[in-house]
Amino acid sequence: MITVGILTISDSSFKGLRKDQSGPVIYQMCEDLSWKVVQQKIVPDDIKQIIDVLSEWISYKISLIFTTGGTGFTKRDVTPEATMEVIDKLIPGIPELMRLETSKITKFTFLSRALAGISQQTLIINLPGSPKAVEECLSSITSILPHALEMLEES
Ligand code: MTE
Repeated sequence: MITVGILTISDSSFKGLRKDQSGPVIYQMCEDLSWKVVQQKIVPDDIKQIIDVLSEWISYKISLIFTTGGTGFTKRDVTPEATMEVIDKLIPGIPELMRLETSKITKFTFLSRALAGISQQTLIINLPGSPKAVEECLSSITSILPHALEMLEES
C-alpha cells in the first residue's frame, strides 16, 4: 500500500490567516488513487521546522511525502533547501517531468525551484504552493510514481 504524508508549508496558513487549499487538493487526489494519507501537517516557512517534520515522517517509513509551498524566490521560500538536508539522492526527473508537462499550461512552472529526492525508503516531492499548481503538477507525475516506489521498496 502506498502511504502518503502531506506537508503544507506556508506562514499565512500556519498563522490561520489563509485557509490551506493545497493540502486538501493533494489529499483528494491521493484518495482518488487509493493512496493512503497517513500524516498531514501545516508548518511555517521555517527551515528547521520543515526538516524536523520531514525527518520524523521518514523515520515512520512513509512511502511518499508531498510538500506544497515555499518553492519560489522570496527570502522565506526554503522548502527545497530543507528537502536537500534530508535526502540521500536527488531525483531530477520527477520535477523535470512536472515542469515539462505543466509548461503546456503555464511557463510560470519554470519559476518553481521544486525538487524531488529519496531518503531511506521515502520519496519526497516538492510541489508549488497554489492549489492550481498543485493539481497541475501532481497529475503530471502520478503515473510514474507507483513504479518509482516499487524500486524504492526493493532497494
Ligand atoms: N506550476 C504550475 N504547474 N502552475 C502554476 O500556476 N505557479 C508558479 C510556479 N509553478 C505555477 C507553477 C509560480 S507563479 C511560482 S511563484 C512558483 O510556482 C513558486 O510557488 P511557491 O512559492 O508557492 O512554491
